[in-house]
Amino acid sequence: MAEEVQGQAAEASESSESSEATIAVHWREEGYYVPPPKFIGQANASDPAILDHFAEDKFPECFREYADLLHWDEYWHTTLDTSNAPFWRWFTGGKLNASYNCVDRHLEKHKNKAALIWVPEPEDTAHVAITYQELYRRVNEMAALLRDFCGLSAGDRVTLHMPMVPELPVTMLACARLGVIHSQVFGGFSGAACGHRIADSGSDVLITMDAYYRSGDLVDHKVKADEAVEAARKEGTEVDKVLVWRRFPGQFSSKTPMVEGRDFFVDELLADHRGAVVAPVSMPAEAPLFLMYTSGTTGRPKGCQHSTGGYLAYVAGTSKFYQDIHPDDTYWCMADIGWITGHSYIVYGPLSLGTTSVIYEGTPNYPDAGRPWRIAERLGVNIFHTSPTAIRMLRKVGPDEPAKYDYDFKHMTTVGEPIEPEVYRWYYETVGKGKAVIVDTWWQTETGGFLGTGLPALNAMKPGSCGPMALGIYAEILDENGEAIPKGSGKAGNICIRNPWPGAFATIWGQPERFVSTYFAKYNKDPDSKDWHDWPYFAGDGAVQAEDGYYRILGRVDDVINVAGHRLGTKELESSALMVPEIAEAAAVPVIDDVRGRVVEMYVSLKPGVEASGPEIEAKVKSAIETDIGKIARPRNIWIVPDMPKTRSGKIMRRVIAATSNFADVGDITTLANPEVVEQIRHQVQSAKHARGEVPRELTEAEEAEIKAFGSE
Ligand code: WTA
Repeated sequence: MAEEVQGQAAEASESSESSEATIAVHWREEGYYVPPPKFIGQANASDPAILDHFAEDKFPECFREYADLLHWDEYWHTTLDTSNAPFWRWFTGGKLNASYNCVDRHLEKHKNKAALIWVPEPEDTAHVAITYQELYRRVNEMAALLRDFCGLSAGDRVTLHMPMVPELPVTMLACARLGVIHSQVFGGFSGAACGHRIADSGSDVLITMDAYYRSGDLVDHKVKADEAVEAARKEGTEVDKVLVWRRFPGQFSSKTPMVEGRDFFVDELLADHRGAVVAPVSMPAEAPLFLMYTSGTTGRPKGCQHSTGGYLAYVAGTSKFYQDIHPDDTYWCMADIGWITGHSYIVYGPLSLGTTSVIYEGTPNYPDAGRPWRIAERLGVNIFHTSPTAIRMLRKVGPDEPAKYDYDFKHMTTVGEPIEPEVYRWYYETVGKGKAVIVDTWWQTETGGFLGTGLPALNAMKPGSCGPMALGIYAEILDENGEAIPKGSGKAGNICIRNPWPGAFATIWGQPERFVSTYFAKYNKDPDSKDWHDWPYFAGDGAVQAEDGYYRILGRVDDVINVAGHRLGTKELESSALMVPEIAEAAAVPVIDDVRGRVVEMYVSLKPGVEASGPEIEAKVKSAIETDIGKIARPRNIWIVPDMPKTRSGKIMRRVIAATSNFADVGDITTLANPEVVEQIRHQVQSAKHARGEVPRELTEAEEAEIKAFGSE
């Protein structure tokens, strides 16, 4: 078997344009870890009968089990409406309110229980517990403000650009109470990035905060609001009101002035709404709850539109069965609410189940690598959720830290990137102290909730694999021609989901044609079909399935670079670099990194006659990317090259420069228009990397395959 697989890999390497789908990937099968009996005894899903409830012949009615976790004002008449394929609609006829489901309905039994516990970054500041009753008060008052002062009502869009503070879920839930569609932009994104999203969503209100703590500094955040308003204006959208929460109410922590008549302090406005109660607006199940922007293969970000009923049902169900959340757990997801993970598994999932959700303001290693474990110990966190990048980083800077603290996890989640078996073992043995189950969860902004993951009490864990598919999710791996790769064969292809599921996004805001072309056109054979069987969802990831049915996700097959779990589109990065007037051409490529998974390197060529020095150009490109996207997108290196390797038709061969940056084989370059430039670039880049001590370790076969396939579409 191993020989056969390697033989296929060798064959594939001979073809320069081979895609990931045709490359067989060999990896060592890892042993299983079984869940501890103590965990099984208390798990929400411990009876294997649940697998039958979600068997394919029970689809789509099986998802009633998730919807029944919610309060419906009106019950639905059609569980899955396929009439407008592939714009699936779930629970049509049903009506509900997300804010009611996450707040009001818990008051009767749990009004004095903490809904949120907020941990500010400065360690000498006490944490803040917000009970369900207090959350109810705050959400209502904010909803009154949005309705009465801003004039917002159901269907309007509002952009939020907020850090990790409880005011963020309060604002989201206040929007949801009114049926207003929130679009939270990750706080670390630049003002311009926020502005593009304001314009795309057509929001005329921006809600932000003056400042927040990050790695020990009180960072000025209001400054980004002014940049955002300006960027939106350039795209034709005028922001009427900027609402500014204050990190310290009553005290302005930004140096950026308030604009008269446009900018308002939320704490001041709220005084007029003290004690206000706003009836939750009963929304149709398919009404949009929020937009979450993500990167794709073209420069324009995609506003993934999630619907109220299907989304909320899906995150409630998956939080219950996969996160194993019980009402009396203390659950901490260390992701940022500005990403889909935070929306689904800090706010909507845990609160819909009435549990206590912890929010931490700052960086995990501030002031030192013991911080997360001190928080866990102090608050009695028993479910912990984070990303492989955070695990790798905490392992690197404090491998022995967890043992010093007395916390007790029953469950740990990992999300966002593939996790290396070695890192997984540290997570299991050192962080989880060999007592906690690990649930690896593969999913996407588009999918609303988990797709590939195991039921913690029923499926043994296997390091490096996300596990089988979630309940009611039927996957297949297809090759480039749409042929199914044999199940359990360990051969790589494109992972697709054959069926609709309630958490899936309904469309891309304002770009329905892109929804169809990006996710469905590749494998749809009959565009007129109303049968969901004809519309497999193309996730854009390569994957293999082992004999035991477990999936291993290999990474993106499109031009998206996953940096520390954040998706960055190469086109977005390149168009930011091209804003520097001296730059003629730009190409972004991924470089394998042991902590962040992937980092970005940028290749640029200059216009003729440019006089600026190399360091000046590098600084300009870095600053252009930081301004247009944000610091997370800052390239590790910028290489100014005499020319880009190109095909005869003038297309930049990204796989060639990606191979150069990763010290991998550049493959066949005979078809290039300028093959001589390849050696020149290799010498320039690799000798500089040698000098900087940036020579990477040898790549694994899967990593080689990823680099080889990069940019080949
Ligand atoms: C990758 C984050 C391997 C994948 C929830 C996907 C993963 C992209 C995993 C989505 C995982 C996410 N194992 N790869 N457990 N989870 N990915 O939209 O490439 O920010 O397509 O959603 O991250 O990233 P997004």
